[in-house]
Parts: sequence; C-alpha cells; structure tokens
Amino acid sequence: MGCFKFDLFIWVLSLLCLGLLCSGFVPADNYLIDCGSLANTTVGNRVFLADNLASKYLSSPKDVVANVSLKPITSFDDSPLYQTARIFPESSKYTFSISHSGRHWIRLYFYPFVFGSYDLSKAKFSISAQNFALLTDFSVQNTTLKEFSVNVTSDSLVITFTPSSNSFAFLNAIEVVSVPDQLITDDVSSGSEKFQGLMNQALETAWRVNMGGPIVSFENDTLWRTWVPDQSFLVNENLAKDFSNIAAVKYDVGLATEDIAPQTVYGTLTEMNSADNPNSNFNVTWEFTVDPGFQYLVRFHFCDVVSKSLNQLYFNVYVDSSNVAPDLDLSTMTINKLAVPYYLDIVTASIVRNKLRISIGPSAVNNAYPNAILNGLEIMKMNNSAGSLSGTNSVSFSNSSSKSNVGVIVGASVGSFIAVALAGVLFVLCRRRKRLADQGHSKTWSPFSMNGTNSHTMGSKYSYGTTASAASNYSYRFPFGVVQEATNNFDESWVIGIGGFGKVYKGTLNDGTKVAVKRGNPRSQQGLAEFRTEIEMLSQFRHRHLVSLIGYCDDKNEMILIYEYMENGTLKGHLYGSGHPSLSWKQRLEICIGSARGLHYLHTGYAKAVIHRDVKSANILLDENLMAKVADFGLSKTGPEIDQTHVSTAVKGSFGYLDPEYFRRQQLTEKSDVYSFGVVLFEVLCARPVIDPSLPREMVNLAEWAMKWQKKGQLEQIIDSTLAGKIRPDSLRKFGETAEKCLADYGVDRPSMGDVLWNLEYALQLQETEIPGDAEENSTNMIGELSPQINNYSNVDTNDSAVQFEVSSVDDLSGVSMSKVFSQLVKSEGR
Ligand SMILES: *[C@@H]1O[C@H](CO)[C@@H](O)[C@H](O)[C@H]1NC(C)=O
Ligand SMILES: *[C@@H]1O[C@H](CO)[C@@H](O)[C@H](O)[C@H]1NC(C)=O
Ligand SMILES: *[C@@H]1O[C@H](CO)[C@@H](O)[C@H](O)[C@H]1NC(C)=O
Ligand SMILES: *[C@@H]1O[C@H](CO)[C@@H](O)[C@H](O)[C@H]1NC(C)=O
Ligand SMILES: *[C@@H]1O[C@H](CO)[C@@H](O)[C@H](O)[C@H]1NC(C)=O
Ligand SMILES: *[C@@H]1O[C@H](CO)[C@@H](O)[C@H](O)[C@H]1NC(C)=O
Ligand SMILES: *[C@@H]1O[C@H](CO)[C@@H](O)[C@H](O)[C@H]1NC(C)=O
Repeated sequence: MGCFKFDLFIWVLSLLCLGLLCSGFVPADNYLIDCGSLANTTVGNRVFLADNLASKYLSSPKDVVANVSLKPITSFDDSPLYQTARIFPESSKYTFSISHSGRHWIRLYFYPFVFGSYDLSKAKFSISAQNFALLTDFSVQNTTLKEFSVNVTSDSLVITFTPSSNSFAFLNAIEVVSVPDQLITDDVSSGSEKFQGLMNQALETAWRVNMGGPIVSFENDTLWRTWVPDQSFLVNENLAKDFSNIAAVKYDVGLATEDIAPQTVYGTLTEMNSADNPNSNFNVTWEFTVDPGFQYLVRFHFCDVVSKSLNQLYFNVYVDSSNVAPDLDLSTMTINKLAVPYYLDIVTASIVRNKLRISIGPSAVNNAYPNAILNGLEIMKMNNSAGSLSGTNSVSFSNSSSKSNVGVIVGASVGSFIAVALAGVLFVLCRRRKRLADQGHSKTWSPFSMNGTNSHTMGSKYSYGTTASAASNYSYRFPFGVVQEATNNFDESWVIGIGGFGKVYKGTLNDGTKVAVKRGNPRSQQGLAEFRTEIEMLSQFRHRHLVSLIGYCDDKNEMILIYEYMENGTLKGHLYGSGHPSLSWKQRLEICIGSARGLHYLHTGYAKAVIHRDVKSANILLDENLMAKVADFGLSKTGPEIDQTHVSTAVKGSFGYLDPEYFRRQQLTEKSDVYSFGVVLFEVLCARPVIDPSLPREMVNLAEWAMKWQKKGQLEQIIDSTLAGKIRPDSLRKFGETAEKCLADYGVDRPSMGDVLWNLEYALQLQETEIPGDAEENSTNMIGELSPQINNYSNVDTNDSAVQFEVSSVDDLSGVSMSKVFSQLVKSEGR
C-alpha cells in the first residue's frame, strides 16, 4: 500500500513546540556524582552526590579516593567538582539503571592534580559505554569536560574505565542525564549507505559556540550545556562584528525551543562587518580543530534579530568549501517571522584535515544588502564504523584557554579533498519536532483521542464522496481487539505491503467492510509524527480521489491506521514490475486525471494549501474500478495560517520525484507536488521506474531522460511499448507538454494542479474524439488562453466573472464534469 517510503531528508528544521515556552526540561534519568568527595556538592541548581553515597553504582576491585584543595575558584573551569577525584588502579565500571530509554548525556570531568604518589597527569586510560569506545589511551593535561551522548535502549548503562598498561584511570565527576528525545532525533535517512541515521550514533561534543556573545554557562542552559564565545575561532576578526538583541528572541511561535539553545545564544550573533559598504563581498570564517577520520554533525543556530523587516537577509553557509544552505532566507524558514530561532543540521563526510572551516557570506539573490549571520554552532563528532569516538587529536571544549592555537589563518589550504569529501555526501538532517510529553502521547493527541466513543462501526457507515466538514467527527478510534480480529491477529499471510512505516495488512471488519490496516513500528518518533499528520490530514480532507481513513488505533502505544481497502493496489504496480496486465492509454489518462483532482483539492480545497510532499506512483492507489486515490499523507503540510504546529520546511520526499528547486531553496510550495506529479506523468507514459540504476547513465533518471526526448519532440520514442501506435499524436503531444511544464526548473513556471487537470482532460478528449480543424493550433491555443481562466477558477477569492461557475467548495469543482466545462470554454474561446 502507500507506505513505501524511501525518504530523502535533506534540510532539517526544527519544529514546533506545542506548548508555549518549552523550558524546564526534567530529565527522567539524572545521575550526578562528585567522585572522591565526602559530601554532596551543589553546582548551580544541581546536587552532585557524595562519592560514598554513589558506591552502589560502582564496581571496582580497587580504587582510591583522592582530594585536593585548588586555589580559589576564579573561573567556571574551577568548579568544586574538580577538587576531588577517584583513582582506578584497575578496570572498574559504573552501572546506572535507565528508566527512560533514549539519548543520554555522559559528561566526564577531569582535572589532573597530584595526590600522594599519583600524578593524575600521568594517568592513561580508556573509557567505553554501550560498546562505544569514548576515549582510548586518553591522558589529561588541563581541566577537561568531555561530553558524549548515546542512545540507551536497554535498562542500564555501563561505563567502563580501563587503565592502559602500567597506568591508572581517574575521574573527578560524572553526569548521566536524559536528553530530550527531540534534541537529536533519527528521522534522518538518506541516500547513502554509509549513513544510516543518527539514533544509533554515539556523539561527542567537539565544540559548542555562542557567536557574537559571552560565554553561556551551564546555569543559563536548560540542558546544562556550556557555550563558549567565538572570537578565538575567527580566521579574520576584522571581518566580523558582534550584534546582540537578546530580548527580541521569540521562542513562542515555535520553531526551536530553549532546549535547542538558550536565548543568549539565539539573541547574539556574529555578522559581516561590511562597514556600510553595499558592495561588500567576503566571508566570515571560523576554524575549528577536529579529529580527521570522523564524520561530524554540525548544527547551525540562526535567529534573525538583525533585520528590520522580512526577507532582507539572504546568505550562504559553507562547511569547508561546500555551500550547505545556498541563499538561505531565514524569514522563510521561520514562517515569515523575525527573531524566531531556527537551526540547521548537516552531517559531513569523513573529515580529512584536522581543521573544519565554517563560513557565512552574502548571497547575490534579490540584490539584498550584503550581510550574513550566525548565532550559534555545535560540532559533534560521530562514532566511526568501529564504534569509536576516540581520535588522536581530541579537543576539550570546555577549556577556553587552550583555544588560542586555533584562530590562525591557514592560507591556501582549501584543498580539493574537502570538495571531494563534502560535495557528495552532505546530509542535512531534518528535524521535525513536536514537543510530546515524554510518554504521554495521548495528551497531545487530543481531538482524536476522545475517549468513550466506541466507534468501530463508523467504518462502514462512513461515506467519502464529499467534503465532510473538517472537524465533524473524530470518532474513528478503534479498540486494539477489533483491529486484531479484523486482521486475524496480524496474520503474516495477510500482509499486502511493507514500508518504512511498518506493515500493511488486509483486513475485514465484522460488518464485512474490507480494510487495509497499516501498523507502525512501535516507538519510532518519526513514525509517530507521520502517524499524527496522517490522521489529522485524512480526518479533515475528504475527497473521492483521496484515500479514506476509516479509523485508527493508538491503544498500547500502537500506531495503526485503517483505510478503505483499495482492491487494485498501487498505480506503480500496474505500470511495471508486478505482472499486471498493462493499462490502456485511456485508463492511464483517467488515473492521472483522478489523482490530479485529488491533489488539486489538497492544494485549493482548504483555506490554506496542503502540500502532499510525497507524490509518486506508489502513493496513488486504485480501487476496484481503477479509480485513482492519492494516499500517504504522513509528510503532508499545511500552511502557517491554519496551524503553525503543522509546518515544516524539512525537505522530504522520494528519490526521483523530488523538486530540485525545493531541494535548493528549501521552500515548500504546491509547485513541488506539481513537479513530482510531472514525474509521475512520464512514469505513466514510459512504464519504467523513475530511477533505474541498471540503465545506461543518461537513462537512469526518468525525468531527465524523458525531458530530453520531449524537448526533441520525439517523446514517442520512449513510450511504453504496449502503447505504441495506440496514442493519438495530439493526445501524446498535449500530455508531453503538460508533463514538461510540470518539470519546469522554477516553481513559478510550473502550472497549478488545476491547469494540469485541465490539460489532462484535454489530452483525454484528444484521444477520444478527433477535434475538427487544425488540432495542432488548437492545442497551442489551449495553453495560452485557458491558463489564466483556470487560475482564476481555482482562486475562489477573485470575483472575476470570466468564469461563470459558482463554486461553493472545491470538492464540488471536481464533481463538475471537466470535459463539459472544458468544451464550453473551447466553444467560447477557441476558434
Ligand atoms: C580530603 O581527604 C581528607 C582525608 O583524606 C579529608 O579529611 C578531607 O575532608 C577531604 N576533603 C574533601 C574536600 O573531601
Ligand atoms: C546528598 O544528596 C542526596 C540526594 O540528593 C541526599 O539523599 C542525601 O541526603 C544528601 N546527603 C547529604 C549528606 O546531604
Ligand atoms: C593547558 O593550559 C595551559 C594554560 O592554561 C596552556 O598553556 C597549555 O597549552 C594547555 N595544555 C594543553 C595540552 O592544552
Ligand atoms: C534510540 O534507539 C531506538 C532503537 O534503536 C529508537 O527506537 C529510538 O528512537 C532511539 N531514540 C533516540 C532519541 O534516538
Ligand atoms: C546567566 O545569564 C544572565 C543574563 O544574561 C547573566 O546575568 C548571568 O550572569 C548568567 N549567569 C551565569 C552563571 O553565567
Ligand atoms: C566564501 O567561501 C566559499 C567556500 O570556501 C567560497 O566558495 C566563496 O567564494 C567565498 N566567498 C567569498 C565572497 O569569498
Ligand atoms: C556508529 O556506531 C553504530 C553502532 O555501532 C553504527 O551502526 C554506525 O554505523 C556507526 N557510525 C558510523 C558513521 O560508522
């Protein structure tokens, strides 16, 4: 069914805080130990447990408690935690029981002092956690705070300290603390086999920097992180200027939250020091020492507190020489609001040098005044394929004094290796956030979780031909038992599809209604978000050409969606690969027209366009009469005017169908669906996969291949061989032109879904009836003269009387026989 999702997530954006201010994260697991200390130590608002009270966590054959009196505490590095330590002459481990599975910080504090016969700076040791090597043959010269995070899915976390031969290990303090699930999530998948997603990654914080502002100590961070100032990393300080307007930061409209980064980070920034020169053209560059041989997760924090009005600021963001966010327009990213925090994640390829350069520079777009900003930056090392994070060049991010060696210009060393390393494999990770209560999903579910309504009989009564009022009935919630019964207890032999989300089963409700039951893999955050989106979308949008949701079940943390059963499976299955009899040209046109209607309704049938974002032949389903219905709304988005909690500019979609402009600009419009639909049109015509790596290079990508032949005017050369000689040339020409327009490089040049619909109707007419006169000329006229009408038509607001239909809802529109309407227009407009 419609759940075969091979998502290419590219730009990542944070989303949504359903609540207002999301501060005050309370970690489910919170172990703080001041090693070697005889008394509890209070640091900020937290209490680190005295060593003797923490002995239950430790198993050590032999250890030594050490303490020292440091000079008076003068800087944040001189935490009282560093005054005592525990020495491990032999391998030892801490075991912490974990109550909330998910990512946890592991923070390790080291300060090498001399205690009796132990000179801690001579210690050499390794530390591992969860099969990850965090540190190997590590030794400490200065005050060091190492921060790691790992996803703990078992009920305990074991951290092992192993002295190197003839040496010993030590530790001054340790934290094991839950990380909010949404801080670093896994809904990252990408085309490269090398990178499977973040949830299994152990991460080490290499650098965490507050651009253009002061140090932000852990006390001012909801997750007890420390952010250091950026000056010492600037390659040329003269090119950069600080700016600060902390009070302006607005979390409440919901992109990033305080847990993503504190207000002091978002409210201060470094910008171009362009000295009021409107011709300024240079980059501001920072350089960070990193360990080569590792991939890094780089998180950029932006908040436009500089601009006076929207869309003033366009800039480029580079990692080494790769432009990772061309012509970034923060106004768009933050849904047309200024001073709203936004973050962008990218994953680098394996780093070759021991330096990572981050630059920002002006974009030429729109002749904007040249400026570029950066508010904060985090650089996190990812474990290598051996599960190790330990490199030769480990850096300690807390010790600002050791950074003086970094801010050096490394003249002409921007080598080709970087281009090679980064150009290909930059995954930008998407983050769509909804702030869920840690466990209680059902709380945020509210409209759908109305309890009490035992409504599993709704399914068969439910009728779908018309626009049901959006919120008329949310009672589609099925008890788990009913779903079990319907699917013969999820009988494996009833599986009709398997996709990223989970399995799809055929089922029958006890009143005989046939259903398709999509059962999500449990505990997947991404799955949950899509599950919710799908229910929200489908319970509001009812249309003959959109697949109907009959119900859902969220008992026992299940994520089950129940749809009307679509007898004939996917359009894709009927085009190639499944041995179905091949469809006639007329059937194909009707299917295209049906799906175009469904999409047109999505785009125009509601106050604000709904963008499907994953239009493809596998998401177009066919009922017993081969009527097409668009399915799989898990990625759909509505616009901001409706509901800010459902907006994301995360680029998602499927390979081969993805709008290149969306990819470049990260700007989501209906025209991205139009692009994908254009690819579907060619797929329908050529009956081959949109990406087929087994073909010669120029043929691999169907969109490119077909456009090449369309532009040559020889589309008939590549059509499905079973259609050869059966398509009237006029019909084919109209169809080809329509698909071509859908694939225009720029969204503005693409037709609306309404135009596409009309043109497909026309192609069908050309197939069925010979239009008298010069068909070629007619065809050309159609495009030129009809389009404006059609635009008006779908734009219900305009009271343009050129179109004489009273349209009460767009759903009605699709009920009108398009052919009739069309013929009328042909009569009045055509000659
Ligand atoms: C340091 O250790 C000595 C005994 O070895 C103890 O008397 C003293 O209280 C300790 N100091 C701290 C700060 O733990
Ligand atoms: C130390 O802190 C723990 C946990 O906060 C508490 O249970 C214990 O009573 C404290 N001990 C002292 C000596 O204050
Ligand atoms: C340790 O700190 C001192 C001064 O604080 C500095 O001179 C030295 O370079 C640092 N050593 C390392 C290995 O970072
Ligand atoms: C942790 O891993 C589990 C299974 O590998 C996954 O389901 C979960 O989403 C992950 N959590 C985070 C926060 O990455
Ligand atoms: C926290 O931030 C406030 C306001 O910016 C500042 O006055 C205070 O000194 C900060 N506290 C620490 C410990 O940095
Ligand atoms: C900014 O840096 C990028 C990447 O190194 C480079 O391609 C670009 O030309 C630079 N722009 C300017 C104006 O120097
Ligand atoms: C990090 O470790 C995990 C678990 O061992 C592994 O699945 C993943 O591929 C590793 N990451 C990289 C980049 O090799």
